[in-house]
Amino acid sequence: MRLALALLLAICTVAAAQSGKPPPRFERNWDSLAKDGVHDPRSPAMRQLQEPREALSALPADSAGNQVRWVDALRDGSINPRSSLRPEAEVRLLETDIYMSRYGSVPAVRFPHREHTLWLDCSNCHEKLFKSKVGANEISMLRILQGEQCGQCHGAVAFPLTECARCHNTPRTPAKPRQAMESAR
Ligand code: HEC
Ligand code: HEC
Ligand code: HEC
Repeated sequence: MRLALALLLAICTVAAAQSGKPPPRFERNWDSLAKDGVHDPRSPAMRQLQEPREALSALPADSAGNQVRWVDALRDGSINPRSSLRPEAEVRLLETDIYMSRYGSVPAVRFPHREHTLWLDCSNCHEKLFKSKVGANEISMLRILQGEQCGQCHGAVAFPLTECARCHNTPRTPAKPRQAMESAR
């Protein structure tokens, strides 16, 4: 497991280092609407639709998922989505990061509220999906991989779960294992 994780993290780090400013060093490819298995190629409405390649190739590149780094697209102004269909809806932003480090076998997870509340309202997560209390949620990788917790969105509408290092992004301080060993003696 350790070795597999280290390999995955290494692959992800290489992938992350490659993404960013265009032109990307990897080839990006999107199925055309006629071939994506979702749209009916015989429908006359097809002519109204924009091809994914045309829309997405202009946005910051990602090597995974739908091949767009959406957080960067928002940050650098490539897209400027309306925050709500209802103009009177209040936009609630939160800047706090939560560090999750219950497991010594993996780098800690930094959950950024800011990058989430730029897209989502608090009620998308609180209080049903996550209790708004640090450590109150028994988050586990197994449940995430089964499409629960973070996996409700990641792997569905947000970057895929194969990008381990994008969540497990905070190295543990090397002092920790030594301290643990000393107290075990
Ligand atoms: C994408 C999901 C998501 C969204 C959206 C979200 N949160 Fe959270 N929030 C979390 C998670 C995950 C935790 C950490 C819970 C844990 O440690 O088990 C958390 C923790 C919290 C906490 C407790 C930690 C602290 O800093 O005191 C508060 C308060 C909180 N959120 C408020 C909000 C508010 C207010 C909003 C909207 C502005 C919001 N959250 C939006 C997922 C979300
Ligand atoms: C309700 C949907 C939702 C849930 C639940 C959710 N996320 Fe996200 N997350 C998003 C979206 C949308 C983005 C931005 C699009 C993208 O990066 O693909 C994002 C982006 C991120 C980023 C990237 C931030 C950056 O700077 O690039 C991290 C890290 C992240 N999420 C971690 C988590 C973790 C950890 C959890 C569970 C504790 C979680 N998310 C739960 C929707 C969600
Ligand atoms: C969307 C964010 C996200 C992604 C992507 C992600 N993880 Fe996790 N992972 C978490 C969170 C959150 C926890 C719980 C951390 C905690 O509570 O300390 C976790 C926990 C774990 C644990 C601890 C044991 C357990 O069963 O929970 C392991 C091991 C793990 N992840 C491995 C991986 C590997 C390998 C990948 C890539 C294939 C990966 N993770 C991708 C968010 C993520």
